[in-house]
Amino acid sequence: MAILYDSVARTFTLHTAESTYQMKADAQNVLLHTYFGPRADGTDFSYLIVSRDYGYCSEPAENTAGREYSLDYFPQEYPVYGDGDYRVSALQAGIAGQAPALALRYVSHRILPGKYDLPGLPALFSIEEGDAETLEIVLKDLYEEIYVTLLYGVFEEKNIITRAAVIGNRGAKTVKLSRVMSMGLDFPEGGRELISFYGKHTLERQFERKTLCHGITEISSARGTSSHHHNPFVIVCDRNTAEDVGACCAVSLVYSGSFKLQAEVDQFDSLRIVCGLNDNEFEWMLGSGESFAAPEVVLSYTEKGLSGLSNGLQKTYRENLIRSPWKNRKRPLLANNWEATYFKFTGGKLLELARQAADLGLELFVLDDGWFGKRDDDRSGLGDWYVNEKKLGCTLGELADRIHALGLKFGLWIEPEMVSEDSDLYRAHPDWAFVIPGRDPNRSRSQLLLDFSRQEVREYIKGRIDDLFASADIEYIKWDMNRSIGNVYSAADPGLSQGAVRHKYILGLYEVLEHMLAQHPDLLLEGCSGGGGRFDAGMLYYAPQIWCSDNTDAIERLRIHYGTSFGYPMSATAAHVSICPNHQNGRMTPFRTRGVCAMQGAFGYELDLDRMTQEEKDEARRQIRLYNENWELFQQGNYYRLASPYENPDFTAWSYVSPDQSRASLSVVYTDVHASAKPYRLKWKGLLEDALYELDGKLYSGTALMHGGTVLPWPECDYDSYMTVIERKN
Ligand code: GLA
Repeated sequence: MAILYDSVARTFTLHTAESTYQMKADAQNVLLHTYFGPRADGTDFSYLIVSRDYGYCSEPAENTAGREYSLDYFPQEYPVYGDGDYRVSALQAGIAGQAPALALRYVSHRILPGKYDLPGLPALFSIEEGDAETLEIVLKDLYEEIYVTLLYGVFEEKNIITRAAVIGNRGAKTVKLSRVMSMGLDFPEGGRELISFYGKHTLERQFERKTLCHGITEISSARGTSSHHHNPFVIVCDRNTAEDVGACCAVSLVYSGSFKLQAEVDQFDSLRIVCGLNDNEFEWMLGSGESFAAPEVVLSYTEKGLSGLSNGLQKTYRENLIRSPWKNRKRPLLANNWEATYFKFTGGKLLELARQAADLGLELFVLDDGWFGKRDDDRSGLGDWYVNEKKLGCTLGELADRIHALGLKFGLWIEPEMVSEDSDLYRAHPDWAFVIPGRDPNRSRSQLLLDFSRQEVREYIKGRIDDLFASADIEYIKWDMNRSIGNVYSAADPGLSQGAVRHKYILGLYEVLEHMLAQHPDLLLEGCSGGGGRFDAGMLYYAPQIWCSDNTDAIERLRIHYGTSFGYPMSATAAHVSICPNHQNGRMTPFRTRGVCAMQGAFGYELDLDRMTQEEKDEARRQIRLYNENWELFQQGNYYRLASPYENPDFTAWSYVSPDQSRASLSVVYTDVHASAKPYRLKWKGLLEDALYELDGKLYSGTALMHGGTVLPWPECDYDSYMTVIERKN
């Protein structure tokens, strides 16, 4: 049993392979958070909570414990606004029209086999009987019929605890929710560090580590998407935590819209983390009998350092979050025409590219933007999901058939959440776009957003997507989203709480994705939002791979992939070989290095294959062969960051090790070159100590490779690279 309830102490103890998490319903029925750390026994950890009569700390409403009892400094499981706790709260709510205030007290609980789900929201799931258990704790406001059900999913073996919260209104009056977080997590000791991943378009998920000081640190997005700028994934760790040692805790939100994560270090140096929906512009009216679910958050605690943490999380997401049948299948090696042609193509040119792709041994041809409506640049056409037969010289079905005849699968780019003002759809339904009445909207890439909170808009888009599938044999979809969400106003119901629209939009997006996948369960869906603007655990539930960045430069990708690897599976990280000078930053890199870098994730090519030199084609064939021989290693292997692009100016290195440790790859990209350079040594990780591995024709023990290391070859030019695969021989 991973979840234990002690009816005398009234403690809930959750055990995973490496951690224990504990709560306690105390004498006043407040649900205290008593422990989250290395795996322990069932001890009631509330003995650690001691207090005095501190000034300016108020007592809870129905206090019977004296002035030494204040929620302002007690560690709580789900802290609320309005009960004498002045720190950041997880929930702010109250009867509509009245001042918000809650006083939540324990009512009941249930322990259930399997993993709960959250209807309409992405969430982790069980893959086999007994791999997860659920704890449901019900809290109730002391005064009103407002209930909060806290949900916990414990994946013991995977070392994962998920959390979610469902707010229920069982009274007659409407309840107004103005802040709903998925969780609160109180750590009694401060002195911790926060690792987060900031960025921008073409430079996503940049690693940043800082000490948490007194006050509130916030990582959030108010862009309506999880965003390029901040990612809904952080790590809280000790000062001495490194790749292979130290305590660390992952907090990962399974949500694709505006989010907020706050870390407050308080007057007693305690740390509180809250994480959930961004409350800027959020407001939700909960009618009598209704409930509201906050998205799921995934927690994992280990003392095995960042490597142990990210490998556990990557594996869990590969197995228990990504639901696509493609998670275990070899991802098709693809050619995408975007950087090859942009909007300027004909059907003939596409077929020529596809022929070259087939000749190289690629498996999927993706037709990117520009195939529909009036779309020869990015100023028009979005919303008109009708093929431009004049441009293609044939129907979409015919084009797909010709591509299939070359032995390739056919994939298509769409951006269904958007509308161009210069489009038939906008002319017919201007009120379907987000525009605040009486105000000119902000344009971004000359496009507006369709109001996905509206049923009729979603039904229309579902219909267009169904028609596309009916018109052609499509095996892959790249679902794009190329602007931040702003000017949010739903014209459907002017009386509707407009603060609800952003979240309803995301629920609407999930509904449309569900529809598409229910109709086409075998579809390979690739997420995209101007590259990695919606690279989050919510999208991974639907899309087993996500275009990681619009930056295809191999060297900048080193940092992007490095950051991404902490929270997400590398098999989900789509990466392509592109042309040089690179289109985003003008850098020249060897073709070989571009391949080494792109093979780190879901691999493909995005350049004019017609214009490749013979030498490049030979190298591409070698890369494709190498990937085909090792796809299981790259898709399912443990991933080790061996040299950080932030800490090592000379090279970045990483490695994959197969789950049975019989095979491993090593990839190195040199980022600087020197005359009279010193020899570079690098230690492998994750191998079997006693096994013998063959490297460059010689046998080495796992111990030798891990403790002694490998001497890297000298780089021969700028941005040279080295990649090798070793195999166990005994
Ligand atoms: C976004 C995507 C690109 C490409 C273009 C097409 O920027 O990230 O890969 O699909 O849109 O307009």
